[in-house]
Amino acid sequence: MILVTGGAGFIGANFVLDWLAQSDETVVNLDVLTYAGNRENLATLDGDPRHVFVQGDIGDSALLADLLARHQPRAIINFAAESHVDRSIHGPEDFIQTNIVGTFRLLEAVRDYWGNLHDDAKQDFRFLHVSTDEVYGSLAKDEPAFTENHRYQPNSPYSASKAASDHLVRAYHHTYGLPVLTTNCSNNYGPYHFPEKLIPLMIVNALAGKPLPVYGDGQQIRDWLYVKDHCSAIRRVLEAGSVGEIYNIGGWNEKPNIDIVHTVCALLDELSARPDGRSYREQITYVTDRPGHDRRYAIDASKLERELGWKPAETFDTGIRKTVQWYLQNQSWVANVQSGAYRAWVEKNYSGRSA
Ligand code: NAD
Ligand code: DAU
Repeated sequence: MILVTGGAGFIGANFVLDWLAQSDETVVNLDVLTYAGNRENLATLDGDPRHVFVQGDIGDSALLADLLARHQPRAIINFAAESHVDRSIHGPEDFIQTNIVGTFRLLEAVRDYWGNLHDDAKQDFRFLHVSTDEVYGSLAKDEPAFTENHRYQPNSPYSASKAASDHLVRAYHHTYGLPVLTTNCSNNYGPYHFPEKLIPLMIVNALAGKPLPVYGDGQQIRDWLYVKDHCSAIRRVLEAGSVGEIYNIGGWNEKPNIDIVHTVCALLDELSARPDGRSYREQITYVTDRPGHDRRYAIDASKLERELGWKPAETFDTGIRKTVQWYLQNQSWVANVQSGAYRAWVEKNYSGRSA
């Protein structure tokens, strides 16, 4: 079996669902269920004996030791993290605790477990750490995309905490020989994306008749990848990646934020037109920028293609259409995640930004 951490969040839940759609290998899913973790994402697995959900913290050493001894996983995929840059700006503490201290505790528990495995299991074991392109910092307009050798230059508390976790993972390989793999991926989008992030926030706000808040001049560039392509890349790296290596994952799909928002508006105009017949574009509002906002990310994913033969299956056009359709068809999921805590976050992040 495999152990997945953070498997009730956006990417983790997509990964668990896709894994069990393609394999009968059991998944133990350890997730503490922060605001971003949602059992509803995994509702189709209710009663499925191949999915064992455990509510708990990656920083809980005793729980980890017990889980590892009991389930004897052949691999661990570490998704668990605090993931939202804006939240890390308002309050970095949780990012330090989960992304750094939590990853450290997880590595310690895994080191102990792995050290006591017999030879074959020890050799076959893998610890795959899911990280981000944000650790590489920000690119100027004409700079080449990030390769795996790009220097680390994280700019937000979120990316600094992820960078620290990447360094710990690297050190556990270098020092103790732990068989690790690290992936650094660009911006994901798709089903179950929590509506604090750009694409789902725009869809949800548009349909609710609310402003579409674009930070700064809207010309910041991100490289977008459909979440199921990220999941297929992780499966491929787990299957065939070389121990100790880093693999960048990206969609070869750089776009300015304002283009993303226009695309979302155009799809909503087509699929769920406003009652007054006007375009959702009219709801776009430019607001005060994010402090320290990275201007551009771009991933060079050629190592993954060259060495492991992975390429994304979706184009941005196909992926974003599927995404908008998913949100239109899952309005009850959207309503359920918009709790009081969600509304408090929206108030905290947006009320102080002038238009
Ligand atoms: P998310 O915020 O949607 O989900 C994170 C999950 O981790 C939640 O289910 C949460 O409950 C769980 N979690 C948080 N703290 C925990 C803890 N201490 N112990 C156990 N579980 C905990 O995040 P996501 O967007 O799905 O990102 C998953 C991973 O992928 C993160 O490591 C993130 O840095 C990385 N990543 C995300 C993107 C992206 O575009 N979303 C891109 C590249 C890399
Ligand atoms: O690059 C990978 C990273 O992508 C992941 O590591 C992070 O976990 C993930 O959250 C994402 O980070 P970003 O900061 O790029 O994603 P976000 O959706 O928050 O913002 C995308 C861009 O849109 C960014 O330039 C900020 C802008 N933005 C965002 C929000 C929420 C807006 O203009 N308005 C908004 O309301």
